[in-house]
Amino acid sequence: PPTGQDLLAEIDRLRKERNAVILAHYYQTPAIQDIADFVGDSLELSRKAADTDADVIAFCGVKFMADTAKILSPQKIVVLPDMDAGCSLEDSCPPEKFKAFREAHPDHIALTYINCSTEVKALSDVIVTSSSAETILSQIPKEQKIIFGPDRHLGGYLSRKFDREMLLWPGVCIVHEAFSETELLKLKAQHPGVPVAAHPECPPSIIDHADYVGSTSGILQFAKTFEGDTLIVATEPHIMHQMELALPEKTFIGAPGADGNCSCNICPYMALNTMEKLYVALRDLEPRIEIEEGLRLAAKKSLDRMLEMAS
Ligand code: 13P
Ligand code: SF4
Repeated sequence: PPTGQDLLAEIDRLRKERNAVILAHYYQTPAIQDIADFVGDSLELSRKAADTDADVIAFCGVKFMADTAKILSPQKIVVLPDMDAGCSLEDSCPPEKFKAFREAHPDHIALTYINCSTEVKALSDVIVTSSSAETILSQIPKEQKIIFGPDRHLGGYLSRKFDREMLLWPGVCIVHEAFSETELLKLKAQHPGVPVAAHPECPPSIIDHADYVGSTSGILQFAKTFEGDTLIVATEPHIMHQMELALPEKTFIGAPGADGNCSCNICPYMALNTMEKLYVALRDLEPRIEIEEGLRLAAKKSLDRMLEMAS
């Protein structure tokens, strides 16, 4: 691949030549966020993928996100710069085990976090993202029993907030699990009165100290509206790039892991995508997401229900 400015120019040239749209999640590197046509959270990226009239979607995020783009836009070519960009939540929930769990609880519906495989989506009733979960849960009758997977921290957070029991799948995000309460309390003591914004994938030991809990877009919105000039951010630190661009006068501090800094909270899966791999993906239209049609249609049902209920 070319380097420096040539790499930027080549990606731009290929994007036009291929009639491609580059979608990026907030956890991608600043260089990828800057070259993307759109940067967003999981729900916004799903909506963009469903609506785009581009021929090619170059998805800079993790595989379940690119799979979602393909499920919603089957006629488009969807490329993911690195096919190994997975997610610990998806890995924690093998479809055959999830199927057995569902079968053991036939009177429950499965409300499932979008961070899962296409097979698990096909076994679910309604998909949620962190920004749509609360709206969707509030539309499900109180007496309806619910299985929530694969993120037990998001499930636990919703369960506490809505005072609603749910059967939780025991998955976690390795990135959000790595924040340290002890180090966060030290940081808060150094910055008295500074608020904390946290993603609901964080464990309760972090959420309990948060002034705001929400999706990546929600956290970004909070950063734009809170009163004050400094914010502690308890989610993957690359999101701070958008905060620094939009709010150069404010200070954003990444919540620390056990070593006292935020670099251990970089998502190793998201980090597999690079500008060079994005260039190759646009050049070769590979690696490409392919999903068997029966499976795609089964997974689309629960995703469509999310899109209807979230709006
Ligand atoms: P958002 O939907 O909040 O962007 O979350 C995606 C994700 O993977 C968080 O770890
Ligand atoms: Fe998955 Fe966590 Fe990475 Fe999000 S941050 S993609 S939940 S491993």
